[in-house]
Amino acid sequence: MVNFHIITLFPELISVYCSTSIICRGIKAEKIQVKTYNPRDFCHDKYRKVDDTPYGGGVGMVLKPEPFFAAFESIEKSPDSPVLLMTPQGIPFHQDLADTLAEQKDITIICGHYEGFDERIRTLATHEVSIGDFVLTGGELPCLAVIDAVGRLVPGVVGKSISLAHESFVDSLLEGPQYTKPAEFSGMDVPEVLLSGNHQEIARWRRRQALRQTYLKRPDLLKEANLTAEDRQFLESLTRQDC
Ligand code: ADE
Repeated sequence: MVNFHIITLFPELISVYCSTSIICRGIKAEKIQVKTYNPRDFCHDKYRKVDDTPYGGGVGMVLKPEPFFAAFESIEKSPDSPVLLMTPQGIPFHQDLADTLAEQKDITIICGHYEGFDERIRTLATHEVSIGDFVLTGGELPCLAVIDAVGRLVPGVVGKSISLAHESFVDSLLEGPQYTKPAEFSGMDVPEVLLSGNHQEIARWRRRQALRQTYLKRPDLLKEANLTAEDRQFLESLTRQDC
């Protein structure tokens, strides 16, 4: 069971996604739990103000530290559990981090908002995480990407473990092409080998397709991949053909 604790000013954005999708199934099966904590509920002033003007001047507003610290302190979680702060300044989110997080009992995620947050809020985080080199209006979408990528790895969330085995980024290779019926569609045929029933040949073809896709689309990943001598030979033949 992984418990996600999400600090957000927009809890409804989190709950809408988590009440649909595979993640919803994981929650119903009690494999994951997603709780939200709204800093606004921890404001004690009349207007429940979560932001204020920046010291030193400048445009816009800055999220205040007190409501975020109070929301954080209200969380019942295991000590030393990871605390992610979603920000474009963070380390790129990566499958390896998702794998590590899926082994945790508690994961706290702090979502910032377009205004920017008081620097002291950063001190709560064990990791600052970005989902890409672009700026979104808030941390909720990135946070959902983390919940989804981690949640699906929790045993019992995705039906068959097999569906996790044959996919992009397992073994640092991209997934090869997949086909279903019909065998011919609009002049496009399913490769013969997949119809052959020869499982050894099919496995070999799939491995080569994965190598080929990775070579063409993400050659940087090949450095991390566990390659056999046969894989290397095949890759060399691709380089020669420059396919
Ligand atoms: N908040 C805004 N943009 C973001 C991004 N690219 N990654 C993570 N958090 C963000």
